[in-house]
Amino acid sequence: MRTIAILNLKGGVAKTTTVINAAAILAEDYKQRVLLIDADSQCNLTEFFSDGKPYTGDTLADILRGYTWSAQKALYLVGPEMSLTIIPASETLMDLDLTKAESGEVNVKVLKDCLSEVQDDYDYCLIDCPPAFNAASAAALVAADEVIIPIKLDAFSLRGMVNLFRQIKNMRAINPKIKIMGCLPTMYYNSKSLTEAVEVLKKNRLHVFSPIRRSNKVDEMTFAQEALNTFSPRSAAGVDYRTFVKELVGGANNG
Ligand SMILES: Nc1ncnc2c1ncn2[C@@H]1O[C@H](COP(=O)(O)OP(=O)(O)OP(=O)(O)O)[C@@H](O)[C@H]1O
Ligand SMILES: [Mg+2]
Repeated sequence: MRTIAILNLKGGVAKTTTVINAAAILAEDYKQRVLLIDADSQCNLTEFFSDGKPYTGDTLADILRGYTWSAQKALYLVGPEMSLTIIPASETLMDLDLTKAESGEVNVKVLKDCLSEVQDDYDYCLIDCPPAFNAASAAALVAADEVIIPIKLDAFSLRGMVNLFRQIKNMRAINPKIKIMGCLPTMYYNSKSLTEAVEVLKKNRLHVFSPIRRSNKVDEMTFAQEALNTFSPRSAAGVDYRTFVKELVGGANNG
């Protein structure tokens, strides 16, 4: 199982959108077994796949607080034909800040242990991280083998990268094998500034995946609760997400 954290501390850069669309393409086009983890107390990923009924079993917060030591108890089948599995988020995640990890109330290593239990049951595990550095994002980084950084290219986000690398560097102390697969430019459009911004990333020795273009279909997809692969496969973003997943599967990266 390849465990990939989709992480950027900046909000609204298409982390959740990337998890949803990559998961659908991996499951439908590549017939991969995909496990999703919603590590964000906003619960956007969980709600996208919800059928309206509340989750009655365990959630990620229960795992992080050590209330359940079995990933099996927090797995739910979701998506078209129940082709995906999710460990859902809950608002309780909001209370789990890093100070609780320091006091031992939250264990940021327990998610990794839980995932090792289901290691052979899935091909990919995609973790939707929150736009904050808290116990859930720390646990995601500890559990992940790889990190992908969706980035909406503007001057603010490029400056924010320095901060992100500092934190990933700290996490390497706990998880030395974590690989930064690269940045994924999202909400992209052709312009001189954006082309130059991609060059800035490359100069910082970051792999840059093929960008995902802006498309109104992405907002619409969230209302329909249907990934672009079936909702609007020919939209610019629909096409680009397939290119991205091809690069991801092929390992088209510099690690
Ligand atoms: N390619 C795109 N074209 C147009 N809109 C997009 C695109 N990708 C994402 N969006 C829109 O941008 C907004 C933010 O996307 P999303 O919720 O996936 O970001 P996020 O990084 O998960 O946010 P948060 O940090 O709050 O969790 C949403 O309204 C989404 O519909
Ligand atoms: Mg999100």
